[in-house]
Amino acid sequence: MKAKQKCPVRIGKAYQIEITDLTHDGEGIGRVDDFAVFVPEALPGDVVLGRVISTKKTYARALIEKILTESEQRIKPFCPQAESCGGCQLAYMGYEYQLAWKQKRVQDAIRRIGRIEAEVLPIIGMDNPEGYRNKSQFPVGLQDNRLVMGFYQKRSHNIVDTDYCRIQHPLINKAAKVVKQALIDLNIEPYNEQNHTGVVRHAVIRTSFSRKTLMVIFVTRTNEFPHQGELVAELTKKLPELTSIYQNVNPKVTNVIFGYESRLLWGEAYLLDQIGDLEFAISPRSFFQVNPHQTKVLYDLAKETAGLTGKETVWDLYCGIGTIGLYLASDAEKVIGVETVPEAVEDARFNADLNGIRHAEFYTGKAEDLAPKLLDQGLKPDVVIVDPPRRGCDPSLLETIQKVQVPKVVYVSCNPSTLARDLGILVEAGYRVESVQPVDMFPDTSHVECVTLMSRL
Ligand SMILES: C[S@@+](CC[C@H](N)C(=O)[O-])C[C@H]1O[C@@H](n2cnc3c(N)ncnc32)[C@H](O)[C@@H]1O
Repeated sequence: MKAKQKCPVRIGKAYQIEITDLTHDGEGIGRVDDFAVFVPEALPGDVVLGRVISTKKTYARALIEKILTESEQRIKPFCPQAESCGGCQLAYMGYEYQLAWKQKRVQDAIRRIGRIEAEVLPIIGMDNPEGYRNKSQFPVGLQDNRLVMGFYQKRSHNIVDTDYCRIQHPLINKAAKVVKQALIDLNIEPYNEQNHTGVVRHAVIRTSFSRKTLMVIFVTRTNEFPHQGELVAELTKKLPELTSIYQNVNPKVTNVIFGYESRLLWGEAYLLDQIGDLEFAISPRSFFQVNPHQTKVLYDLAKETAGLTGKETVWDLYCGIGTIGLYLASDAEKVIGVETVPEAVEDARFNADLNGIRHAEFYTGKAEDLAPKLLDQGLKPDVVIVDPPRRGCDPSLLETIQKVQVPKVVYVSCNPSTLARDLGILVEAGYRVESVQPVDMFPDTSHVECVTLMSRL
Protein backbone atom coordinates (compact mmCIF):
# COMPACT_ATOMS: atom_id res chain seq x y z
CA MET A 1 0.00 0.00 0.00
CA LYS A 2 1.23 3.49 -0.90
CA ALA A 3 2.26 5.45 2.22
CA LYS A 4 0.18 8.57 2.85
CA GLN A 5 2.12 11.61 1.69
CA LYS A 6 2.79 14.43 4.16
CA CYS A 7 1.87 17.88 2.89
CA PRO A 8 5.20 19.34 1.69
CA VAL A 9 4.02 22.97 1.28
CA ARG A 10 3.42 25.67 3.88
CA ILE A 11 0.72 28.34 3.94
CA GLY A 12 2.23 31.75 3.09
CA LYS A 13 5.24 30.34 1.22
CA ALA A 14 5.69 30.69 -2.56
CA TYR A 15 6.70 27.77 -4.83
CA GLN A 16 7.54 27.36 -8.49
CA ILE A 17 4.76 25.24 -9.98
CA GLU A 18 4.43 23.82 -13.49
CA ILE A 19 0.77 23.49 -14.45
CA THR A 20 -0.05 20.23 -16.21
CA ASP A 21 -3.85 19.85 -16.00
CA LEU A 22 -7.11 21.49 -14.86
CA THR A 23 -9.61 20.63 -12.11
CA HIS A 24 -13.36 20.33 -12.86
CA ASP A 25 -13.73 23.94 -11.83
CA GLY A 26 -11.06 25.09 -14.28
CA GLU A 27 -8.26 25.66 -11.73
CA GLY A 28 -4.72 24.78 -12.83
CA ILE A 29 -3.17 21.63 -11.30
CA GLY A 30 0.56 21.43 -10.62
CA ARG A 31 2.75 19.48 -8.21
CA VAL A 32 5.27 20.35 -5.53
CA ASP A 33 7.25 17.27 -4.47
CA ASP A 34 4.52 15.17 -6.07
CA PHE A 35 1.82 16.87 -3.95
CA ALA A 36 -1.11 18.40 -5.90
CA VAL A 37 -1.44 22.16 -5.79
CA PHE A 38 -4.49 23.87 -7.35
CA VAL A 39 -3.84 27.30 -8.82
CA PRO A 40 -6.86 29.38 -9.96
CA GLU A 41 -6.38 31.16 -13.31
CA ALA A 42 -3.34 29.05 -14.20
CA LEU A 43 -3.41 27.01 -17.43
CA PRO A 44 -1.59 23.89 -18.57
CA GLY A 45 1.75 25.07 -19.97
CA ASP A 46 2.10 27.92 -17.44
CA VAL A 47 4.96 27.87 -14.95
CA VAL A 48 4.02 30.10 -12.03
CA LEU A 49 5.29 31.29 -8.73
CA GLY A 50 2.33 30.41 -6.52
CA ARG A 51 1.81 31.46 -2.90
CA VAL A 52 0.00 28.81 -0.86
CA ILE A 53 -3.22 30.04 0.78
CA SER A 54 -4.62 26.77 2.15
CA THR A 55 -3.73 23.12 2.62
CA LYS A 56 -5.89 19.99 2.85
CA LYS A 57 -4.99 16.32 3.30
CA THR A 58 -4.51 15.63 -0.40
CA TYR A 59 -4.01 19.01 -2.03
CA ALA A 60 -3.10 22.65 -1.45
CA ARG A 61 -4.31 25.83 -3.12
CA ALA A 62 -2.00 28.65 -4.23
CA LEU A 63 -2.54 32.03 -5.88
CA ILE A 64 -0.42 33.22 -8.78
CA GLU A 65 2.23 35.68 -7.60
CA LYS A 66 4.06 35.78 -10.92
CA ILE A 67 3.78 33.94 -14.23
CA LEU A 68 7.31 32.69 -15.01
CA THR A 69 6.45 31.03 -18.35
CA GLU A 70 3.16 31.67 -20.16
CA SER A 71 1.05 28.87 -21.63
CA GLU A 72 0.38 29.18 -25.38
CA GLN A 73 -3.33 29.02 -24.55
CA ARG A 74 -3.23 32.09 -22.28
CA ILE A 75 -4.98 35.23 -23.51
CA LYS A 76 -5.41 38.71 -22.07
CA PRO A 77 -9.00 38.61 -20.74
CA PHE A 78 -11.51 40.62 -22.76
CA CYS A 79 -13.25 41.65 -19.54
CA PRO A 80 -11.81 44.60 -17.57
CA GLN A 81 -13.13 43.03 -14.33
CA ALA A 82 -11.55 39.59 -14.83
CA GLU A 83 -8.87 40.08 -12.19
CA SER A 84 -11.27 40.87 -9.38
CA CYS A 85 -14.62 39.28 -10.32
CA GLY A 86 -15.16 35.62 -9.45
CA GLY A 87 -17.71 34.92 -12.21
CA CYS A 88 -15.67 33.70 -15.21
CA GLN A 89 -13.15 31.02 -14.26
CA LEU A 90 -11.88 30.61 -17.85
CA ALA A 91 -11.49 34.28 -18.80
CA TYR A 92 -7.74 33.73 -19.34
CA MET A 93 -8.23 30.87 -21.79
CA GLY A 94 -8.71 31.22 -25.56
CA TYR A 95 -12.22 30.09 -26.62
CA GLU A 96 -11.05 27.19 -28.82
CA TYR A 97 -9.06 25.83 -25.89
CA GLN A 98 -12.05 26.27 -23.55
CA LEU A 99 -14.09 24.11 -25.91
CA ALA A 100 -11.37 21.45 -26.16
CA TRP A 101 -11.09 21.36 -22.36
CA LYS A 102 -14.87 21.03 -21.89
CA GLN A 103 -14.94 18.20 -24.42
CA LYS A 104 -12.19 16.38 -22.52
CA ARG A 105 -13.90 17.05 -19.19
CA VAL A 106 -17.04 15.27 -20.43
CA GLN A 107 -15.04 12.39 -21.95
CA ASP A 108 -12.99 11.91 -18.76
CA ALA A 109 -16.06 11.98 -16.51
CA ILE A 110 -17.90 9.38 -18.61
CA ARG A 111 -14.85 7.11 -18.60
CA ARG A 112 -13.62 7.58 -15.03
CA ILE A 113 -16.80 8.17 -13.02
CA GLY A 114 -19.31 6.31 -15.18
CA ARG A 115 -16.82 3.59 -16.24
CA ILE A 116 -18.42 3.71 -19.70
CA GLU A 117 -16.74 3.62 -23.10
CA ALA A 118 -18.96 5.89 -25.18
CA GLU A 119 -18.14 8.27 -27.97
CA VAL A 120 -18.59 11.92 -27.03
CA LEU A 121 -19.58 13.99 -30.08
CA PRO A 122 -17.66 17.22 -30.78
CA ILE A 123 -18.89 20.03 -28.54
CA ILE A 124 -21.15 22.66 -30.10
CA GLY A 125 -19.71 26.09 -29.25
CA MET A 126 -20.92 29.63 -29.92
CA ASP A 127 -19.88 31.75 -32.92
CA ASN A 128 -19.79 34.86 -30.75
CA PRO A 129 -19.30 33.85 -27.11
CA GLU A 130 -20.25 37.11 -25.37
CA GLY A 131 -23.38 39.01 -24.32
CA TYR A 132 -25.14 35.65 -24.07
CA ARG A 133 -26.75 35.77 -20.61
CA ASN A 134 -30.38 36.76 -20.09
CA LYS A 135 -30.25 36.98 -16.29
CA SER A 136 -27.96 38.59 -13.73
CA GLN A 137 -28.17 38.59 -9.94
CA PHE A 138 -26.30 41.62 -8.60
CA PRO A 139 -25.60 41.72 -4.83
CA VAL A 140 -26.18 45.19 -3.32
CA GLY A 141 -24.19 46.31 -0.28
CA LEU A 142 -22.41 49.09 1.55
CA GLN A 143 -18.67 49.77 1.22
CA ASP A 144 -16.95 52.84 2.69
CA ASN A 145 -20.40 54.31 3.32
CA ARG A 146 -21.28 54.01 -0.36
CA LEU A 147 -23.89 51.80 -2.03
CA VAL A 148 -22.19 49.24 -4.26
CA MET A 149 -23.73 46.78 -6.70
CA GLY A 150 -21.94 44.26 -8.88
CA PHE A 151 -20.46 40.81 -8.44
CA TYR A 152 -18.81 38.95 -5.60
CA GLN A 153 -15.05 39.15 -5.60
CA LYS A 154 -13.18 35.89 -6.01
CA ARG A 155 -13.37 33.69 -2.90
CA SER A 156 -15.20 36.33 -0.86
CA HIS A 157 -18.46 38.18 -0.31
CA ASN A 158 -16.87 41.58 -1.02
CA ILE A 159 -18.79 43.20 -3.82
CA VAL A 160 -16.87 44.35 -6.91
CA ASP A 161 -18.74 47.54 -7.75
CA THR A 162 -19.49 47.28 -11.46
CA ASP A 163 -22.37 47.66 -13.85
CA TYR A 164 -20.69 45.98 -16.80
CA CYS A 165 -20.31 42.27 -17.48
CA ARG A 166 -19.03 40.98 -20.81
CA ILE A 167 -21.19 37.86 -20.83
CA GLN A 168 -24.44 39.70 -20.01
CA HIS A 169 -26.80 40.93 -22.70
CA PRO A 170 -26.16 44.67 -23.31
CA LEU A 171 -29.68 45.51 -22.07
CA ILE A 172 -28.84 44.04 -18.67
CA ASN A 173 -25.68 46.16 -18.48
CA LYS A 174 -27.73 49.23 -19.40
CA ALA A 175 -30.40 48.45 -16.80
CA ALA A 176 -27.84 47.71 -14.06
CA LYS A 177 -26.38 51.22 -14.36
CA VAL A 178 -29.82 52.83 -14.13
CA VAL A 179 -30.89 50.65 -11.19
CA LYS A 180 -27.75 51.38 -9.18
CA GLN A 181 -27.96 55.13 -9.78
CA ALA A 182 -31.65 55.18 -8.78
CA LEU A 183 -30.91 53.31 -5.51
CA ILE A 184 -28.16 55.85 -4.73
CA ASP A 185 -30.21 58.92 -5.71
CA LEU A 186 -33.18 57.82 -3.62
CA ASN A 187 -30.98 56.96 -0.65
CA ILE A 188 -32.38 53.44 -0.44
CA GLU A 189 -30.58 51.50 2.26
CA PRO A 190 -28.42 48.62 0.95
CA TYR A 191 -28.17 45.33 2.84
CA ASN A 192 -25.42 44.92 5.41
CA GLU A 193 -24.44 41.25 5.44
CA GLN A 194 -22.34 41.52 8.63
CA ASN A 195 -25.15 42.62 10.95
CA HIS A 196 -28.15 41.64 8.79
CA THR A 197 -29.58 45.15 8.52
CA GLY A 198 -30.60 47.35 5.61
CA VAL A 199 -33.15 46.80 2.87
CA VAL A 200 -32.03 45.85 -0.69
CA ARG A 201 -29.98 42.62 -0.86
CA HIS A 202 -29.98 41.90 -4.58
CA ALA A 203 -31.13 43.43 -7.84
CA VAL A 204 -31.98 40.61 -10.23
CA ILE A 205 -32.35 41.66 -13.86
CA ARG A 206 -33.82 39.42 -16.57
CA THR A 207 -34.17 40.23 -20.23
CA SER A 208 -36.12 38.71 -23.09
CA PHE A 209 -33.85 38.28 -26.11
CA SER A 210 -36.78 38.01 -28.53
CA ARG A 211 -38.77 41.02 -27.27
CA LYS A 212 -35.90 43.16 -25.94
CA THR A 213 -37.79 43.74 -22.68
CA LEU A 214 -36.70 43.74 -19.03
CA MET A 215 -37.87 42.49 -15.64
CA VAL A 216 -36.21 43.89 -12.50
CA ILE A 217 -36.63 42.14 -9.14
CA PHE A 218 -35.48 43.81 -5.92
CA VAL A 219 -34.81 41.24 -3.22
CA THR A 220 -35.35 43.00 0.12
CA ARG A 221 -34.68 41.88 3.68
CA THR A 222 -37.73 43.74 4.94
CA ASN A 223 -41.38 43.71 4.01
CA GLU A 224 -41.33 47.48 3.89
CA PHE A 225 -39.64 48.94 0.85
CA PRO A 226 -39.18 52.68 1.47
CA HIS A 227 -39.26 54.92 -1.64
CA GLN A 228 -40.62 52.13 -3.83
CA GLY A 229 -43.03 54.48 -5.60
CA GLU A 230 -40.24 56.90 -6.52
CA LEU A 231 -38.01 54.00 -7.55
CA VAL A 232 -40.68 52.64 -9.89
CA ALA A 233 -41.22 56.13 -11.37
CA GLU A 234 -37.50 56.64 -11.94
CA LEU A 235 -36.89 53.23 -13.54
CA THR A 236 -39.90 53.38 -15.85
CA LYS A 237 -38.81 56.87 -16.96
CA LYS A 238 -35.22 55.83 -17.71
CA LEU A 239 -35.78 52.31 -19.04
CA PRO A 240 -38.44 52.15 -21.78
CA GLU A 241 -37.68 48.41 -22.19
CA LEU A 242 -39.01 47.63 -18.68
CA THR A 243 -42.17 45.54 -18.54
CA SER A 244 -42.15 44.35 -14.87
CA ILE A 245 -40.78 45.45 -11.50
CA TYR A 246 -41.03 43.03 -8.58
CA GLN A 247 -40.16 43.00 -4.90
CA ASN A 248 -39.14 39.64 -3.44
CA VAL A 249 -38.83 39.43 0.35
CA ASN A 250 -36.03 37.35 1.84
CA PRO A 251 -35.74 38.03 5.60
CA LYS A 252 -33.41 35.07 6.34
CA VAL A 253 -29.70 35.00 7.14
CA THR A 254 -28.74 32.94 4.10
CA ASN A 255 -26.76 32.83 0.86
CA VAL A 256 -29.90 31.79 -1.03
CA ILE A 257 -30.93 34.81 -3.09
CA PHE A 258 -34.73 34.61 -3.27
CA GLY A 259 -37.29 34.42 -0.49
CA TYR A 260 -40.69 32.82 -1.03
CA GLU A 261 -42.81 35.93 -1.42
CA SER A 262 -42.80 37.99 -4.62
CA ARG A 263 -44.95 41.12 -5.14
CA LEU A 264 -45.53 42.81 -8.44
CA LEU A 265 -44.79 46.53 -7.94
CA TRP A 266 -45.42 47.57 -11.51
CA GLY A 267 -46.19 46.16 -14.96
CA GLU A 268 -46.81 42.62 -16.21
CA ALA A 269 -46.71 39.47 -14.12
CA TYR A 270 -44.43 37.64 -16.59
CA LEU A 271 -41.48 38.27 -18.85
CA LEU A 272 -42.25 36.80 -22.28
CA ASP A 273 -39.54 35.20 -24.39
CA GLN A 274 -39.43 32.84 -27.33
CA ILE A 275 -37.52 29.67 -28.19
CA GLY A 276 -38.08 28.48 -31.73
CA ASP A 277 -41.78 28.97 -32.53
CA LEU A 278 -42.93 28.77 -28.92
CA GLU A 279 -43.51 31.59 -26.49
CA PHE A 280 -42.74 31.26 -22.78
CA ALA A 281 -43.94 33.27 -19.80
CA ILE A 282 -41.34 33.49 -17.03
CA SER A 283 -42.07 34.45 -13.38
CA PRO A 284 -39.42 36.11 -11.22
CA ARG A 285 -38.25 32.93 -9.44
CA SER A 286 -38.68 30.44 -12.29
CA PHE A 287 -35.74 28.71 -13.96
CA PHE A 288 -35.23 29.62 -17.60
CA GLN A 289 -32.04 28.60 -19.45
CA VAL A 290 -29.66 31.58 -19.36
CA ASN A 291 -28.30 31.41 -22.91
CA PRO A 292 -31.20 31.65 -25.39
CA HIS A 293 -29.02 31.10 -28.52
CA GLN A 294 -27.72 27.78 -27.22
CA THR A 295 -31.05 26.84 -25.59
CA LYS A 296 -32.55 26.46 -29.06
CA VAL A 297 -29.57 24.27 -30.04
CA LEU A 298 -30.06 22.22 -26.85
CA TYR A 299 -33.81 21.76 -27.25
CA ASP A 300 -33.49 20.92 -30.98
CA LEU A 301 -31.01 18.24 -29.95
CA ALA A 302 -33.32 16.93 -27.22
CA LYS A 303 -36.14 16.77 -29.80
CA GLU A 304 -34.01 15.03 -32.42
CA THR A 305 -32.57 12.65 -29.81
CA ALA A 306 -35.99 11.69 -28.46
CA GLY A 307 -36.97 10.63 -32.03
CA LEU A 308 -40.71 10.87 -31.38
CA THR A 309 -43.36 9.57 -33.81
CA GLY A 310 -46.46 11.21 -32.33
CA LYS A 311 -47.54 8.09 -30.41
CA GLU A 312 -45.42 8.44 -27.28
CA THR A 313 -46.12 9.45 -23.71
CA VAL A 314 -43.20 11.65 -22.67
CA TRP A 315 -42.23 12.49 -19.11
CA ASP A 316 -40.41 15.83 -18.79
CA LEU A 317 -38.89 15.54 -15.31
CA TYR A 318 -37.32 18.61 -13.64
CA CYS A 319 -39.35 20.56 -16.20
CA GLY A 320 -38.98 24.15 -14.92
CA ILE A 321 -41.57 26.23 -16.80
CA GLY A 322 -42.28 23.30 -19.14
CA THR A 323 -39.93 24.39 -21.90
CA ILE A 324 -38.52 21.04 -23.10
CA GLY A 325 -41.80 19.12 -22.88
CA LEU A 326 -43.70 21.84 -24.72
CA TYR A 327 -40.94 22.10 -27.33
CA LEU A 328 -41.38 18.38 -28.06
CA ALA A 329 -45.16 18.27 -27.64
CA SER A 330 -46.03 18.56 -31.35
CA ASP A 331 -44.35 15.15 -31.87
CA ALA A 332 -45.82 13.38 -28.81
CA GLU A 333 -49.19 11.94 -27.86
CA LYS A 334 -48.95 13.19 -24.27
CA VAL A 335 -46.47 15.19 -22.21
CA ILE A 336 -46.27 15.05 -18.42
CA GLY A 337 -44.02 17.52 -16.62
CA VAL A 338 -42.85 17.41 -12.98
CA GLU A 339 -41.18 20.25 -11.10
CA THR A 340 -40.72 21.28 -7.44
CA VAL A 341 -41.19 25.07 -7.69
CA PRO A 342 -44.96 25.78 -7.65
CA GLU A 343 -44.67 29.09 -9.59
CA ALA A 344 -42.73 27.29 -12.33
CA VAL A 345 -45.52 24.68 -12.60
CA GLU A 346 -48.09 27.49 -12.85
CA ASP A 347 -45.91 29.05 -15.58
CA ALA A 348 -45.72 25.68 -17.38
CA ARG A 349 -49.53 25.35 -17.43
CA PHE A 350 -49.87 28.96 -18.57
CA ASN A 351 -47.24 28.30 -21.27
CA ALA A 352 -49.13 25.25 -22.54
CA ASP A 353 -52.25 27.46 -22.95
CA LEU A 354 -50.23 30.30 -24.45
CA ASN A 355 -49.02 27.97 -27.19
CA GLY A 356 -52.36 26.18 -27.68
CA ILE A 357 -50.97 22.86 -26.39
CA ARG A 358 -53.75 20.77 -24.83
CA HIS A 359 -52.02 17.42 -24.32
CA ALA A 360 -49.47 18.51 -21.68
CA GLU A 361 -50.01 18.20 -17.92
CA PHE A 362 -47.76 19.58 -15.20
CA TYR A 363 -47.45 18.53 -11.55
CA THR A 364 -45.75 20.07 -8.52
CA GLY A 365 -43.47 17.77 -6.54
CA LYS A 366 -40.19 15.93 -6.56
CA ALA A 367 -39.59 13.82 -9.66
CA GLU A 368 -38.49 10.89 -7.46
CA ASP A 369 -41.73 11.05 -5.42
CA LEU A 370 -44.18 11.65 -8.26
CA ALA A 371 -42.77 9.14 -10.78
CA PRO A 372 -44.19 6.06 -8.92
CA LYS A 373 -47.52 7.86 -8.47
CA LEU A 374 -47.77 8.59 -12.20
CA LEU A 375 -47.21 4.88 -12.84
CA ASP A 376 -49.98 4.00 -10.36
CA GLN A 377 -52.27 6.22 -12.47
CA GLY A 378 -51.35 4.19 -15.58
CA LEU A 379 -49.26 6.98 -17.13
CA LYS A 380 -46.34 4.80 -18.20
CA PRO A 381 -43.74 6.68 -20.30
CA ASP A 382 -42.22 5.68 -23.64
CA VAL A 383 -39.58 8.37 -23.33
CA VAL A 384 -38.29 10.01 -20.14
CA ILE A 385 -36.44 13.32 -20.33
CA VAL A 386 -34.56 14.36 -17.20
CA ASP A 387 -32.91 17.77 -16.77
CA PRO A 388 -31.88 17.82 -13.09
CA PRO A 389 -29.92 20.50 -11.20
CA ARG A 390 -26.15 20.05 -10.71
CA ARG A 391 -26.59 17.31 -8.08
CA GLY A 392 -28.09 14.99 -10.71
CA CYS A 393 -31.00 12.55 -10.33
CA ASP A 394 -32.16 11.05 -7.07
CA PRO A 395 -31.19 7.34 -6.96
CA SER A 396 -34.81 6.35 -6.35
CA LEU A 397 -35.85 8.01 -9.63
CA LEU A 398 -33.23 5.98 -11.49
CA GLU A 399 -34.61 2.86 -9.78
CA THR A 400 -38.12 3.70 -11.02
CA ILE A 401 -36.82 4.20 -14.58
CA GLN A 402 -35.07 0.80 -14.45
CA LYS A 403 -38.09 -0.94 -12.94
CA VAL A 404 -40.44 0.31 -15.67
CA GLN A 405 -37.84 -0.43 -18.36
CA VAL A 406 -38.49 2.88 -20.10
CA PRO A 407 -37.30 2.31 -23.71
CA LYS A 408 -35.57 5.70 -24.12
CA VAL A 409 -34.04 8.13 -21.63
CA VAL A 410 -32.84 11.57 -22.75
CA TYR A 411 -30.59 13.02 -20.05
CA VAL A 412 -29.97 16.80 -20.25
CA SER A 413 -27.25 17.69 -17.76
CA CYS A 414 -25.29 20.74 -16.59
CA ASN A 415 -22.77 18.69 -14.59
CA PRO A 416 -20.65 16.00 -16.31
CA SER A 417 -19.71 14.36 -12.98
CA THR A 418 -23.26 13.62 -11.83
CA LEU A 419 -24.27 12.81 -15.41
CA ALA A 420 -21.50 10.18 -15.58
CA ARG A 421 -22.48 8.77 -12.16
CA ASP A 422 -26.14 8.41 -13.20
CA LEU A 423 -25.30 6.96 -16.64
CA GLY A 424 -23.10 4.41 -14.86
CA ILE A 425 -26.08 3.33 -12.71
CA LEU A 426 -28.36 3.01 -15.75
CA VAL A 427 -25.75 1.08 -17.77
CA GLU A 428 -25.42 -1.40 -14.85
CA ALA A 429 -29.19 -1.78 -15.00
CA GLY A 430 -29.23 -2.68 -18.70
CA TYR A 431 -29.17 0.60 -20.63
CA ARG A 432 -26.80 1.52 -23.44
CA VAL A 433 -25.41 5.03 -24.03
CA GLU A 434 -26.24 5.84 -27.66
CA SER A 435 -24.84 9.36 -27.90
CA VAL A 436 -23.36 12.10 -25.72
CA GLN A 437 -23.47 15.62 -27.16
CA PRO A 438 -21.84 18.48 -25.20
CA VAL A 439 -23.13 22.01 -25.83
CA ASP A 440 -21.36 25.13 -24.59
CA MET A 441 -24.09 27.16 -22.89
CA PHE A 442 -21.68 29.05 -20.63
CA PRO A 443 -18.56 30.40 -22.43
CA ASP A 444 -15.77 31.78 -20.17
CA THR A 445 -17.03 29.68 -17.26
CA SER A 446 -16.11 26.10 -16.34
CA HIS A 447 -19.68 24.83 -16.89
CA VAL A 448 -20.79 22.58 -19.73
CA GLU A 449 -24.16 21.12 -20.76
CA CYS A 450 -24.76 17.69 -22.39
CA VAL A 451 -27.63 15.88 -24.09
CA THR A 452 -27.31 12.10 -23.76
CA LEU A 453 -29.52 9.40 -25.26
CA MET A 454 -29.82 6.05 -23.51
CA SER A 455 -31.84 3.11 -24.73
CA ARG A 456 -32.90 -0.16 -23.14
CA LEU A 457 -30.88 -3.15 -24.36
C1 LIG B 1 -31.70 22.57 -14.77
S1 LIG B 1 -33.31 23.11 -14.41
C2 LIG B 1 -34.15 22.55 -15.85
C3 LIG B 1 -35.45 23.22 -16.17
C4 LIG B 1 -36.01 23.00 -17.57
N1 LIG B 1 -35.93 21.63 -18.01
C5 LIG B 1 -35.41 23.94 -18.59
O1 LIG B 1 -34.76 23.50 -19.54
O2 LIG B 1 -35.60 25.17 -18.44
C6 LIG B 1 -33.76 22.02 -13.15
C7 LIG B 1 -35.15 22.23 -12.58
O3 LIG B 1 -35.38 21.16 -11.66
C8 LIG B 1 -36.15 21.65 -10.56
N2 LIG B 1 -35.95 20.65 -9.48
C9 LIG B 1 -34.97 20.58 -8.56
N3 LIG B 1 -35.09 19.44 -7.83
C10 LIG B 1 -36.16 18.76 -8.32
C11 LIG B 1 -36.77 17.51 -8.01
N4 LIG B 1 -36.30 16.71 -7.03
N5 LIG B 1 -37.85 17.13 -8.74
C12 LIG B 1 -38.33 17.92 -9.73
N6 LIG B 1 -37.79 19.11 -10.07
C13 LIG B 1 -36.72 19.53 -9.38
C14 LIG B 1 -35.60 23.04 -10.36
O4 LIG B 1 -36.52 23.85 -9.68
C15 LIG B 1 -35.36 23.50 -11.81
O5 LIG B 1 -36.49 24.16 -12.32
